[in-house]
Amino acid sequence: MIRSFSLLASAAMLASFTVPAAAEEADPAAIVALQFAVSGDHKGVRASGAKGVCLKGNFTPSADAAGLSKAAQFSKTVPVTARFSMGGGNPKISDKTKATTRGFAMRMQDPAGDLTFVIISAPVFSTKTPAQLLEFLQVRAPGPDGKPDAEKIKAFAAKNPETGRQAAWLNARPVPASFAGTDYWAVHAYTLTNAKGDKTVAKLKFVAADKATLSDEELKAKPDSFYADELKERLARGPARFDLVAILAEPNDPTTDVTATWPEDERKQKTLGTLAITAIEPDATCDAATFDPVVDLPEGIAGPADDPMFAIRSPAYAVSLSRRSN
Ligand code: HEM
Repeated sequence: MIRSFSLLASAAMLASFTVPAAAEEADPAAIVALQFAVSGDHKGVRASGAKGVCLKGNFTPSADAAGLSKAAQFSKTVPVTARFSMGGGNPKISDKTKATTRGFAMRMQDPAGDLTFVIISAPVFSTKTPAQLLEFLQVRAPGPDGKPDAEKIKAFAAKNPETGRQAAWLNARPVPASFAGTDYWAVHAYTLTNAKGDKTVAKLKFVAADKATLSDEELKAKPDSFYADELKERLARGPARFDLVAILAEPNDPTTDVTATWPEDERKQKTLGTLAITAIEPDATCDAATFDPVVDLPEGIAGPADDPMFAIRSPAYAVSLSRRSN
């Protein structure tokens, strides 16, 4: 199934990047074309996470981790390539933007197979199906006057209330003072499998060791780009750490809808290990390929087979890579 999506992507890459008219055309190339259209059609950048910083570090599993997953990454320390980013395809977006997720992509490397997560600073994504994402983007795309139609956005939001949850969550919280100062969620439900074949369904969250936010006053005093410099200074003092926490599912927790949260505080949690970001890497290290959270998973951890927002990420990221590399 995953492989066939890759083939689909290759075909899609050849397609032109015109903005589709109909919401039912929820193919990855159409979605990516709209992501670019909504954010100003910048060349040579990602369709989302266009502004970011490439990094390296390592991941060290906890004593509990191998009991949950047989992936090599949960039995020894492995090297990591990572990237923090601002959501959207505008490479000049202000770091002060509130209703935009901060992103975190990472590849935990091992010869037996890399473990890749591409995650955001909110527990939910904005849409639950590709068709809904397509329409979410369509109503935000600029019209003939160069501006989106506010009435269309309002009407879409009224018909699709769950698509407002992410922005509401972000708007209710202060802006992170650092890419390393906020938690990140993998939003999808993963299945962990240990050496005995026992399976555990969990949502995964990277919990920042040093949470830091800005008051409205502090935010006003900041320039539009401060995250990259802050990170340089922070890493000169020592690694930026995150605990990888598994939030264990209970019966009836939704596993196919990334706009729905689980009551995390009422769920059992297990710490799987600690990610340490140690240094900034040249952009080229992160730009040559995509971080593919669908295909690049080793045995012992699987994404949700029935969450339509999961599978489509692989071909969409391939389309974006093709466009930004040409
Ligand atoms: C559902 C949860 C999702 C999360 C948490 C998420 C998060 C992210 C993040 C953090 C990045 C930046 C990656 C980097 O720094 O290299 C990214 C890139 C991207 N996302 Fe998503 N995303 C999600 C779903 C989707 C979906 C459903 C689509 C489209 C169908 C999509 C399309 C893209 C594209 C095209 C890129 C640029 C990839 C590249 O050029 O390397 N995302 N996403």
